[in-house]
Amino acid sequence: MNNRNLAVIYHSAHGHTAHIAGHILAGARSVPGITAHLLQAEELTRTPEHLRDYDGFIFGTPTYLGGVSGSFKTFMDATGRLWKSHALKGKLAAAFTVSSLPSGDKQSTLLSLFVFAMQHGMVWVGNAILPEQHAGVPEQEAANRLGSWSGMMAQAGHSAPADSFAPGDIKTARMFGTHVAETLLRMACSEQMETST
Ligand SMILES: Cc1cc2nc3c(=O)[nH]c(=O)nc-3n(C[C@H](O)[C@H](O)[C@H](O)COP(=O)(O)O)c2cc1C
Repeated sequence: MNNRNLAVIYHSAHGHTAHIAGHILAGARSVPGITAHLLQAEELTRTPEHLRDYDGFIFGTPTYLGGVSGSFKTFMDATGRLWKSHALKGKLAAAFTVSSLPSGDKQSTLLSLFVFAMQHGMVWVGNAILPEQHAGVPEQEAANRLGSWSGMMAQAGHSAPADSFAPGDIKTARMFGTHVAETLLRMACSEQMETST
């Protein structure tokens, strides 16, 4: 089977979302058979047709006022022509967001990204990780400590350096990248079985 192309597409004004995107990328790249790319949303705003080259996407944005950032929304709107031809139908989609407050309305951002993916006819993948604090892991070190399953969430303290995340959020980012990549491969395998029968 040919390698599957996965793109982590993000916007980050101050580096926090970029930091998490890098860990998600590393998780995705740990899966043999996946070629994972890191792309800035601003670049794709100019060349949205390049989205055709990928089998799946992980979208990432900071949460701004309970939604995606302006730069990420500009990227989303630039895909309108692809929507008209349903060019992205059937591709895999997943999402993450970073904000400074424990809740900060991050769920609302993930829902916007979910609706965006559904309008394009994509197939949504969540964050299938049980919160490890329930198994006795200290909360700051626990995978999915923020308890988000529709997509991945991470929290960076207000005005904190771009790499100052709880170890649990870094662990979650890596596991999330791996999970999406493995799901993409499973999807590719079943497509291949269908075409060969
Ligand atoms: C205009 C603006 C709106 C924001 N709105 C929220 C918000 O609704 N909830 C929240 O928790 N943090 C909010 N924040 C904080 C950012 O989400 C946070 O600083 C994030 O880490 C920025 O990511 P970046 O470093 O990748 O740009 C906001 C920041 C800005 C600049």
